[in-house]
Amino acid sequence: MSPLHVLQFFIFSVCIHLFSIFTYLVYYYDLFTSSDEILEEYDFIIVGSGTAGSLIAHRLSKDTNYTFVVLEAGGEGHTFHSIPAFGPLLHGSVFDWQFQTVPQENACLAMVNSQCKQTQGKMLGGSSKMNNMIHFRGNTSHYVDWFHGKFTKEYIEEHLNYIESNVYPLHNIQYHSQISDVVLNAAEEIGYKELNSQNNLGFAKSLLTQRNGKRWTTSDNFDTSKYVLTNVLVDKLIIEEDKCIGVQISYPKRVKLFAKKGVIVSAGAYNSPKLLQLSGIGPVDILNSVNVSVIKELPVGKNLQDHIGTGLDLVLFDTPQSVGMFDIMNLFHVYQYFVNGTGALTTPGCEVVGFVSTDNHTVPDVQFMVLPVGITADRGSHLRKTLGITDFVWDNYFSKLFDKHAATFFTLLLHPKSIGEVKIKSKDPNLPPKIDPKYLSHPNDVKTLVNGVKILIKLVETDAMKAIGGHLNEKHFPGCENYDIFSDLYLECYVKHLTLSSYHPVGTCSMGPRESKSSVVDTSFKVIGIEHLYVVDGSVLPTLPSGNINAAIAMMANIFFENTIKSRLSLNENLFCKNSVLDDLIFKVCPVR
Ligand SMILES: Cc1cc2nc3c(=O)[nH]c(=O)nc-3n(C[C@H](O)[C@H](O)[C@H](O)COP(=O)(O)OP(=O)(O)OC[C@H]3O[C@@H](n4cnc5c(N)ncnc54)[C@H](O)[C@@H]3O)c2cc1C
Ligand SMILES: *[C@@H]1O[C@H](CO)[C@@H](O)[C@H](O)[C@H]1NC(C)=O
Ligand SMILES: *[C@@H]1O[C@H](CO)[C@@H](O)[C@H](O)[C@H]1NC(C)=O
Ligand SMILES: *[C@@H]1O[C@H](CO)[C@@H](O)[C@H](O)[C@H]1NC(C)=O
Ligand SMILES: *[C@@H]1O[C@H](CO)[C@@H](O)[C@H](O)[C@H]1NC(C)=O
Ligand SMILES: *[C@@H]1O[C@H](CO)[C@@H](O)[C@H](O)[C@H]1NC(C)=O
Repeated sequence: MSPLHVLQFFIFSVCIHLFSIFTYLVYYYDLFTSSDEILEEYDFIIVGSGTAGSLIAHRLSKDTNYTFVVLEAGGEGHTFHSIPAFGPLLHGSVFDWQFQTVPQENACLAMVNSQCKQTQGKMLGGSSKMNNMIHFRGNTSHYVDWFHGKFTKEYIEEHLNYIESNVYPLHNIQYHSQISDVVLNAAEEIGYKELNSQNNLGFAKSLLTQRNGKRWTTSDNFDTSKYVLTNVLVDKLIIEEDKCIGVQISYPKRVKLFAKKGVIVSAGAYNSPKLLQLSGIGPVDILNSVNVSVIKELPVGKNLQDHIGTGLDLVLFDTPQSVGMFDIMNLFHVYQYFVNGTGALTTPGCEVVGFVSTDNHTVPDVQFMVLPVGITADRGSHLRKTLGITDFVWDNYFSKLFDKHAATFFTLLLHPKSIGEVKIKSKDPNLPPKIDPKYLSHPNDVKTLVNGVKILIKLVETDAMKAIGGHLNEKHFPGCENYDIFSDLYLECYVKHLTLSSYHPVGTCSMGPRESKSSVVDTSFKVIGIEHLYVVDGSVLPTLPSGNINAAIAMMANIFFENTIKSRLSLNENLFCKNSVLDDLIFKVCPVR
């Protein structure tokens, strides 16, 4: 490193450490001062305050008189943690579960031990407290399929409309580099128009879940101090005679809390299957291997899918284009953010999204997310650790790019065919589950991703990009030196080495028909065969949405509230409903008991 780079590294490291000390202080302050009152019994208990859990809590508090509590394993955070530009600083912090995959055979080869990190929020607000805030509906016909004909496309669109007008304030990206406009022009040169609601192919500037430049999450919609207990890890569900009657928590001491009408598990796509398995609901072999007695055999933890991609620092510019680290530390920008809700601190990172088809059809199979910064922007002080890049790759590839101005055109698979699984490896609720996504294990995925990178190459070689000095990073990736640069074999090697998760895990408690061997919950989100137990979060999505997934998760949570909780309110208890088998059959009519 040159003296200048060493100085930059030093300054960034100091700032990042200061932020991290601040985060610890906030965390411990919350841990030792919270003295929330806990009742012994509620109508509903919600596990997890993420996108789904907080949305359900918001609706319960606004539209019903039910008593409920939200139990959140993570801490509360501070308003500074909602500053959009600081999102990446939470990755790897005490507010991240810090999960990682098991060593991958075909992917993540540039990471230590071939393990990809899996950032997931462990704080009030969940993963959306550290996401990129991109709001995207995806293809609604896929959501119609999830419900197997129970709802029409119009009905699902109504719920997306509800989310967009009552749950999330949406804002067009307001601070961005010149790359955004250039990319839109470059896309047009290669035949992609601006994205609109009629067409799922094309490019557009990001639409964000922000209010006045501040990150907005579903937990910002209600008085969390009244309903959410933070730093409370749920260890286990209490199930008696095939009915969930409450949960067991271990903080501040081991106690049981009871739920009269239901327990709603919204712990996210890794922790929801973990909690079900710990409670005896899951594949028999997994439960037996850790001596958990089987209550109900269901394919919990199977069908794990994630949007994965590549492309970090693959595009270089001759001149600085981006929101640099020094822009973010600039006091004028701090003033702009706090006084006006504008400026560099409102940046979501990703400025443009694009949807393309690698096989010349009309249905997109690859998404681009354009970030004007690369992992080298902080000289290795933080971002590289959040991905677990090896020293060898860092020294031989990324650190050589310090004098260039790198950007990331993150190229990702929308509908990967590789399917993985999550399983507990012990009865101890404090241990992380074993996550094996089997990234790129299906050969089609490698092929589609390689074709996606080829479209990216075309995009970079346009006149629009050349005009601002954009070009491809032609340095061979370590481990792929034997192939001709950008040949098919080179790109295959490249995507297997530099595999990146967009942290969109789904599918681990899949929704589907009750008779199907792959369903964990039915189309009213009830765990099959267990009364009063619901899973509502990313884990019930049986397939990946065609785009960023948060809007789809919020839509699902809203449908759960309207259909499973609220619609039953107006109905009185009737005789049939006292019989749980009949209740199962006519679930649309019976109120929640
Ligand atoms: C870095 C990152 C960037 C992303 N970018 C985008 C984006 O730009 N656009 C987009 O649409 N999506 C994005 N996503 C995805 C999206 O944010 C998530 O898919 C979504 O927030 C998941 O919501 P959820 O309700 O399923 O779970 P989460 O929001 O993860 O919530 C689960 C909550 O449950 C808590 N919990 C877990 N286990 C327990 C337990 N045993 N006891 C008590 N509490 C527990 C957790 O601490 C957490 O708060 C991103 C995700 C990440 C991580
Ligand atoms: C909740 O209680 C209030 C006061 O008792 C009542 O006016 C209101 O109608 C109730 N709301 C619902 C949804 O039951
Ligand atoms: C949405 O998905 C359906 C089913 O896969 C497909 O037929 C349709 O063309 C897609 N729509 C768009 C706009 O991509
Ligand atoms: C399971 O229980 C058996 C017998 O009680 C014991 O031998 C074994 O070590 C246990 N396994 C685990 C993983 O706890
Ligand atoms: C404040 O925001 C307005 C638009 O909302 C903008 O026109 C103005 O320049 C901003 N002021 C500062 C100091 O950033
Ligand atoms: C798509 O069409 C273009 C031109 O029509 C052609 O050059 C390209 O090879 C096609 N790609 C595939 C994957 O069929």
